[in-house]
Amino acid sequence: MSPYVESLEHKRVWWKEATFYQVYPASFKDSNGDGLGDIPGLISKVPYIASLGVDVVWLSPMYDSPQKDMGYDISDYETVYPPYGTVEDVEKLVKECHQHGLKLILDLVVNHTSDQHEWFKESRSSKDNPKRNWYFWRPARYDQDGNRMPPTNYRSYFAGGTWTWDDNTEEYYLHLYDPSQPDLNWENADCRRAIYDSAMRFWLDKGIDGFRVDTVNKYSKHVDFPDAPITDSNSFIQPAAQFWCNGPRIHEFVKEMNNDVLSKYTTFDGQAVVTVGELSLTPEPEGVLRYVSAKEKELDMVFQFDITHLGQDNGFQDKYDFAPWKLPEMKRIVEKWQTFIEETDGWTTVFNENHDNGRSVSRFASDVPEWREQSAKMLAIWLIAQTGTLFLYQGQEIGMINAPKDWGIEEYRDVEAQGHWEEAVRQDANGTDPGRTERILHGLQLMARDHSRLPFQWDSSANGGFTTGKPWMRAHDLYPKINAENQGKDVNSVLAFYKRLLYLRKEHKDVFVYGAFELVDPENENTFVFRKRYRDRTAVVAMNFTDSPQPAFGAMEMMLLVSSYSKVVLGTLQPFEGRIYVDY
Ligand code: GLC
Ligand code: CA
Repeated sequence: MSPYVESLEHKRVWWKEATFYQVYPASFKDSNGDGLGDIPGLISKVPYIASLGVDVVWLSPMYDSPQKDMGYDISDYETVYPPYGTVEDVEKLVKECHQHGLKLILDLVVNHTSDQHEWFKESRSSKDNPKRNWYFWRPARYDQDGNRMPPTNYRSYFAGGTWTWDDNTEEYYLHLYDPSQPDLNWENADCRRAIYDSAMRFWLDKGIDGFRVDTVNKYSKHVDFPDAPITDSNSFIQPAAQFWCNGPRIHEFVKEMNNDVLSKYTTFDGQAVVTVGELSLTPEPEGVLRYVSAKEKELDMVFQFDITHLGQDNGFQDKYDFAPWKLPEMKRIVEKWQTFIEETDGWTTVFNENHDNGRSVSRFASDVPEWREQSAKMLAIWLIAQTGTLFLYQGQEIGMINAPKDWGIEEYRDVEAQGHWEEAVRQDANGTDPGRTERILHGLQLMARDHSRLPFQWDSSANGGFTTGKPWMRAHDLYPKINAENQGKDVNSVLAFYKRLLYLRKEHKDVFVYGAFELVDPENENTFVFRKRYRDRTAVVAMNFTDSPQPAFGAMEMMLLVSSYSKVVLGTLQPFEGRIYVDY
């Protein structure tokens, strides 16, 4: 390891040290018994969020929407989905957060709108409408037999094509996601200006402290739209991200967004507003750095998804055809994204859950009754000792787990799960991929986006105290056991452990938030050990990812800062135990 050079240390900024807590409005807290979470419900739980020791709330989309993709299909940026509340409710939320010392960021979803947005309704109304070019319209192609074919063979996210035919003007429009989510055309300057005004300034003017920027690397496409090479022989539609992701003008667009809009605003306490971009399909550190290098003035940080793609093959058509993985793979991913910012002016993020993934306890450790609490605590150690900005997802702090395996496919409500399921049923039935339904069901049980969308488990009353009505998604069978109220009374609970760790992370932020990372014993398939260093201080983090005891890493000459077990055994890491040692 090269000696630590002070001038290369990361510059200190508030959002690097902050812990973010993501709230999914539909599933957090219902205030009026209609079965759907809402803004007043969230406001009533702001004191709970503040009590965790987090610093920023990231609220997933609460805008008006037909909810085909749970609010990531927005029909009006300037109103709130009525069942969630009103713009005034969000203004109250901003105040409530600020009064508790929390910042609030919203989700900025501007790669696409809903097809119910006024902009799209105008665009689709005629070929010479002034907003026609705010979306991508292209004529049909025809095959030898004269059959109408879409302009390209691209595969969309939700297991269909990316082009939908519109009878009215007889052209196709582009959508990387559901047909109800047409892509905005960022090449059009009027369109960009309208996005900045309606989706950004409108809310920044109301005092929010920044944005999580949805699908940020897809605004620029190769607008000549070449056909994708055939890499999936089972299907007409083909993965084609090279033509619609990280396109030729992407950095120009993100810079403009920052320069024209974000740089003009500050947080409630007078600091720079914060952005965190969703950066999928960008595997190379150099590609990621271009977005997060401070001198580029684009985004503060991004989510890179190698970690949540563990087990998901290419993360695209075979995302739910689970590919078993071993611990060394996870270690390499962590090492890659921990170290890529060393000696640069970029920054990284730390997370293993969000609203698009299965629960981490179920995916990365064990959710059986015997080990689920230990697993949750060990994963908490894994998170809080890493360099970068930490993001937690609602319910992670109480160790919520995936939906039970005996729930049927009908409990999976997500458009993506449905798309992959229906495709599997088709491919199984027509013989292109026998046995696929069984494999995809298994993958969905582990990784579907639905798991994280189950109602928050507040207490042991009906539906986990989430609603007095019928919840929009079934409450987990285990809410009487896994819930915030029980854990609030138990000093050994996952919740109590998270609070303690979040405090330790702040107290030791030099090493945990800003330190240099070094992997130990990379090929060990049972334990995950790494060092963190800052100047002359070192921490060692040791975790047992198995359900049997493992030899403990020899860090005995150091001081044990914390263990996820209340009683440690010398020389042994107990099943799913995590420990941190420090030498100072
Ligand atoms: C992002 C969101 C996801 C949504 C998609 C389309 O990936 O996290 O939930 O489906 O964008 O907006
Ligand atoms: Ca409600």
